[in-house]
Amino acid sequence: MNYHNLHQILILALIMSMSACQPEQKQPQKSSTNFDTQVDSLLSLMTLEEKIGQMNQYSGFMDFTGPQPKEGQQAQKLEHIKKGWVGSMLNVHGVENVMAVQKIAVEETRLGIPLIIGFDVIHGYKTISPIPLAETASWDLEAIQKSAEMAAEEASAAGIHWTFAPMVDISRDARWGRVMEGAGEDPYFGSLVAKARVKGFQGNDLSAHNTIAATAKHFAGYGFAESGKDYNTVDVGTSTLHNIINPPFKAAIEADVKTFMNAFNVLNGIPATGNAYLQRDLLKEKWDFDGFVVSDWDSVGEMIDHGFAEDGRAAAKYAVEAGSDMDMESYHYIEQLAGLVNDGEVREDLIDDAVKRILKVKFELGLFDDPYKYCNEEREKEIIGQQKFHDQVFELAQKSIVLLKNEKNLLPLQKSGQKITLIGELAADKTSPLGNWIIAAEDNSAVSVLEGLENYEANNEIVFEKGVDLVTSQPLFSQQLVINETDSSGIETAVAKAKNADVVIMVLGEHGRQSGEGRSRTSLDLPGLQQQMLEAVYEVNQNIVLVLNNGRPLTINWADKHIPAIVEAWQLGTQAGNAIASVLYGDYSPSGKLPMTFPKNVGQVPLYYNYKSTGRPAPKNENEVFWSGYIDSPNTPLYPFGYGLSYTKFEYKNLKIENNYEANAKVKVSVELKNTGDTKGKETAQLYLQDEFASVTRPIKELKGFKQVELAPGETKTIDFELTNAELGFYDNDGNWLVEKGSFKVYVGGDSETTLSKNFKI
Ligand code: BGC
Repeated sequence: MNYHNLHQILILALIMSMSACQPEQKQPQKSSTNFDTQVDSLLSLMTLEEKIGQMNQYSGFMDFTGPQPKEGQQAQKLEHIKKGWVGSMLNVHGVENVMAVQKIAVEETRLGIPLIIGFDVIHGYKTISPIPLAETASWDLEAIQKSAEMAAEEASAAGIHWTFAPMVDISRDARWGRVMEGAGEDPYFGSLVAKARVKGFQGNDLSAHNTIAATAKHFAGYGFAESGKDYNTVDVGTSTLHNIINPPFKAAIEADVKTFMNAFNVLNGIPATGNAYLQRDLLKEKWDFDGFVVSDWDSVGEMIDHGFAEDGRAAAKYAVEAGSDMDMESYHYIEQLAGLVNDGEVREDLIDDAVKRILKVKFELGLFDDPYKYCNEEREKEIIGQQKFHDQVFELAQKSIVLLKNEKNLLPLQKSGQKITLIGELAADKTSPLGNWIIAAEDNSAVSVLEGLENYEANNEIVFEKGVDLVTSQPLFSQQLVINETDSSGIETAVAKAKNADVVIMVLGEHGRQSGEGRSRTSLDLPGLQQQMLEAVYEVNQNIVLVLNNGRPLTINWADKHIPAIVEAWQLGTQAGNAIASVLYGDYSPSGKLPMTFPKNVGQVPLYYNYKSTGRPAPKNENEVFWSGYIDSPNTPLYPFGYGLSYTKFEYKNLKIENNYEANAKVKVSVELKNTGDTKGKETAQLYLQDEFASVTRPIKELKGFKQVELAPGETKTIDFELTNAELGFYDNDGNWLVEKGSFKVYVGGDSETTLSKNFKI
C-alpha cells in the first residue's frame, strides 16, 4: 500500500491498530469498544465538511437503480470524492472499478478515509440463486443462509463491501412487484429468513475478506403500499406495524445486521425517511441499533414530492434529525447540511452520531486495515462463477419448486419412450429465469427449461415450440416491458405440435422483469395471450404439465380446474432449467411450500392466511348476506400459505399437548407424521396458534413453528414443537410484548388450512 499524503500517514498511524495486512488474511474480531476509541479519534480530526462527506453516497458510473441523475451531477462525483465529500458509492463493482474509486478516496483526500462500496446483491452476484420469494418457498433456512454466503463470497471478490439486502418487507399484496424480493407474507417465518440472510451475508467475522455488511430494508411499511402500487402511500394501524411489519426488522438486529435502509413511502402521513418515531424512537433507542441507516435512492429529496419538506434544505434537516445517517443520491446532505449546522438549525452532535455509526461499520469491515482488501483480481477470477456455486444454486432451485397439483400420474415424467412437446417462449428463455435484480449476471446466462430437458439423460423425444410471443423484445433493466397482447399467430403451431404428444409441458407465466421494483400489476392472470394458448392446446391434448415462471402469486383458476399437473417454478436463477428437469423426472420429490397465499382473483387482495376473525366471520348459511364476504367470490384462496404437494403423501395424526406452562412456561406439542405414499419425500410440518381472546384481537391462525422431515415410504416420525412466551405473546399497540393468560388453539399440518387441532389454556 502506498500512502503519499502526510495527513494520511498521521491518521492511519492514529487509527490503525496494526500495519496494513494482506487481502487474504483474516483479522481477529475486534470488540466494538476498540472501534469506539478509534472512531472518536478519527472524528476529532474531521472538519464539518468531511463529516458530512461520510454521510453522502453516490451512485457510480455503471448502473442506475433509480432515476437518472440530473445533468452535470455525474461529472461532479469524482471531484467530490477527491474533496472527501463522499463516504460511499453504490453501483460500482468489479475489482478494477472499485480500486479506481477507492484509490481516489484513500490517496487523494486529506484523511484518506476509505469508501464503503454498496450494491444490490439480492439473490446472488453473478451466479444467481432463485429469487428471494422462491428461495423462501424451500423453507430451508440453512440453504437460504448458504445462498447469502455464496452471494457475499462472489460479491466480495468483486470489490463489494456491503449489500442492500435482505429486503425484509412483509407483503400481503401480490400486485406489488417487489414481493419477489422478500420472504412473503408471514412475520414469524419472515423473521427467521431475515436472520438467515443476514448471517449468510455477514458471517461470524465481518472483517473476513469474504463477508459483507447486510442491510435490513425498507424501514418501514414499504410492503403495505396501498393497492399494491409501488412507492404508494402506506397507512397501517399500530397493531399491524408492531406485529406484522416490524418483527423481521427486529430479527435482523438480533442477527447483528450492520445497516438499515429506510423507505420511499409515507407511513401514516410521515415519510419513513423523515420519520423520527421509526428511526430514532424505535430503531435506535428502543431496539438499540448501533449500525447506520442509509436512505433509499433520493428518498431524502422525495420528501419534497411527498409534500412534507418545502425544499432540499428542509428535506436534509428533517432526514438527519429523524435519524437517516447516509443520503443515497439526493445530494441534499452534501449541499445543505453544512449550512444548516453553521446557521444553528441542525445540531452538530447529530452529524457526529451519524458519522460515528458509518465509520464504525467501515472499521468493522476492516477497511481501515486495508482499504483494498476486497480488491484482488486473481481472487475475483477464481471465486466468481465457481462450479460449487452452480451446484449450490441447482440444489436450492430444486428445493424452491412447489408442486401445486398432480393428477393423472403425469408427474414424475417417464424416462423413455415419450414424445414430449414443450411449449412457451419462457421455456427457451435464458434471461427471464434469472428474475429481477441480477445486475452483475449476464443476460442469457441461465439454463432454460428447454436446455434442462435436453441435458437430462432420458430417452424421450423433445419437440419445442415457442407458441405466442410473451414480450415483444428483451427489455433493459430500467425499461418497461412490452407484452404481446395482439399477435396470436404462434397458437396454431403450438396446437399442431401438441396434438400427438404423450405429454405437453407448457412453460408459462411472467417474464423475469415483470416483477421487481416499479413493476406492480393490476391483474394477476397469465400475461398476454398465454391463457388463450393454454386453452387452445388443452382442446387437443389434456396431458398438460403447466410449469409456472413468475415473481408473485398468480390467479390461475382455469388452470387449477383443468390442467392435471401444475408446478410452481418461479424464477429459479442460473440453474433453473436443470433443476426443473430433475424435479419433473422425479430425481427430487417436490418439497417447496408457498410463502404467500395465491388468491382466486385480484379482488380478494390483500389476501393472507393470518387474518382477523371480524365480528361476522363465516356464514351460518351460504345464502346469508350479512357476513364478511363477497357476493361474487368465496373468501378462500386458490392455494393457501404453506401449501405444496410432493410425489408422495403424508398423514398427520395423534396431535398431543403436554401443558407445563404453570411449571416452566412451556407447552409441548407433538404429532405423528407418516409417509403413506411409495416414494421418499420431505415434508414441512407447520404449527399454527390462535390466541382465542386477547386485549388486542389476534389472527385466526399464526405460524409459530415448523420442522422439515424426510421420510421413507411407510415411515412414521414424531415431531415435537415447543411453545414458550416468545410464541404465545404479541405486541400491544405501544409495541410492548404481552403474554395474556387464556385459551389457545394449536393446529399442526402441511399448510395453513390444516384442521387438526387441540385446545389448551395457560
Ligand atoms: C431501491 C432499493 C435499492 C436502491 C439502490 C432503490 O430504488 O428501493 O431497494 O437498494 O434503489 O439500488
